[in-house]
Amino acid sequence: MKYVIGLDLGTSAVKTLLIDRTGKVCLEETVAYPLIQSKSGYSEQDPEEWVSKTKNALKGLLSKFEGNIEDIEGISFSGQMHGLVLLDQEGNVLRPAILWNDTRTTKQCQDIYNKVGKEKLLTVTKNPALEGFTLPKLLWVKENEPELFKSATTFLLPKDYLRYRMTSHLATDYSDAAGTLLLNIKEKKWSTEICDDVGISSSLCPPLVESHECIGTLTLSFASETGLSKATRVFAGGADNACGAIGSGVLKRGETLCSIGTSGVILSYENNADSDFEGKVHYFNHGKKDAFYTMGVTLSAGYSLTWFKKVFAKEYKFDDLLDGIDTVPVGSNGLLYTPYLTGERTPHADSVIRGSFIGMDASHNIKDFVRAILEGITFSLNESIQTFRENGNVIDTIISIGGGAKNDKWLQMQADIFDASIVRLKSEQGPGVGAAMLAAVGAGWFATLEDCAEVFIEKMQEFKPINANVQKYKKLFSIYQQVYFKTKSLNLELKAYRT
Ligand code: XUL
Repeated sequence: MKYVIGLDLGTSAVKTLLIDRTGKVCLEETVAYPLIQSKSGYSEQDPEEWVSKTKNALKGLLSKFEGNIEDIEGISFSGQMHGLVLLDQEGNVLRPAILWNDTRTTKQCQDIYNKVGKEKLLTVTKNPALEGFTLPKLLWVKENEPELFKSATTFLLPKDYLRYRMTSHLATDYSDAAGTLLLNIKEKKWSTEICDDVGISSSLCPPLVESHECIGTLTLSFASETGLSKATRVFAGGADNACGAIGSGVLKRGETLCSIGTSGVILSYENNADSDFEGKVHYFNHGKKDAFYTMGVTLSAGYSLTWFKKVFAKEYKFDDLLDGIDTVPVGSNGLLYTPYLTGERTPHADSVIRGSFIGMDASHNIKDFVRAILEGITFSLNESIQTFRENGNVIDTIISIGGGAKNDKWLQMQADIFDASIVRLKSEQGPGVGAAMLAAVGAGWFATLEDCAEVFIEKMQEFKPINANVQKYKKLFSIYQQVYFKTKSLNLELKAYRT
């Protein structure tokens, strides 16, 4: 039997999947790493951690593998998007990576609008200037760490750095490049015009490749440290959301994905770059060649639960924390949560807003809080669904993946709040499966991603909306939507007290 490895470099952990030609997930190994949050709004990671934890994960994976190592024919990547890794001439990392959920760059976003102009930015990159994207981070370093910036000769996205360390080749793929705000999305080339406007040398931008393209083979040292064969072919891979879409079979118009990991996204497939959402949702290149997707992002989705557990419920295991949420009625006994722990992206691009629990009552217990958090995350994602529907997209079925697809009760809640059927797949690990599919197509096992999806992806279960719950949630959603506007100015005042 032949195999490929899908490697998902996430925000909380690196996950590796060994998948065979029939699409069976044979082995998996996950290793976690920390976030560095030294100030309110800051979110960084040490790229060396990604490399060392990936080595550990691969070693762990291969220690359980009983086949012939030469039969692992390819490896590819799914990566957390937008993070800035800066390298010097020798390929050394110049500073910790600034991640997608870091919101320190509000000033730089404004500078981009002033220098490029909103209209041109939207025409070329199809996206507004948001704190999480890579270009504002580059400008922040240029402005705040000018000496260090002078030594930078290239930037990479997180999975591209990992791949660089595995192969010693520099590259990024279109789906990840799209999240930098420097790519001409439609023409698939770096925008030298935007680089010139903002004063960034286009030589900093790495070479562009397709997601299924072979970048090379493993270096001798990476192969011998992990136990992989040096002949293993390494394929470019894609942004985690693009890979999530591939790994869920979201490969044609009309298909919608809900992916809940650290962030949460609602993603919809687009054939071309010609639809106009006026920057209300993100518009990126897909990992499928010459295709695109639009997407709304909730910054702190799964992260809301991680945070709540860490601060208030350390003694619980995750599954236990969610256990019994169905004993709490729809509406969490009057408790409402907004998940703005690190600011928000869709529909409120706002780095200052913070989360709220509204309606706390002396009778509430931990289960009320947990259900309120799940409802708040799902309401937030429903705002993206509302935007898509207002733009004419028909959304009646949604494939759900990630941590949010592990729990039946949460899947039913998604069906009730989104008022759509929710499909659960055999594997909820969309990004890792999508990465493996890119390797499988790259290795020539299948002619197209669609052919691969036929073999690799299996639908397991469907959750239908329950009308009585749909009606209750419709009313609650309109209360939820008011919280942002009613807490906006309070948060602006509270900003002065954040450290
Ligand atoms: C997308 C985004 C997040 C990260 C999470 O724009 O910032 O979904 O990709 O890894």
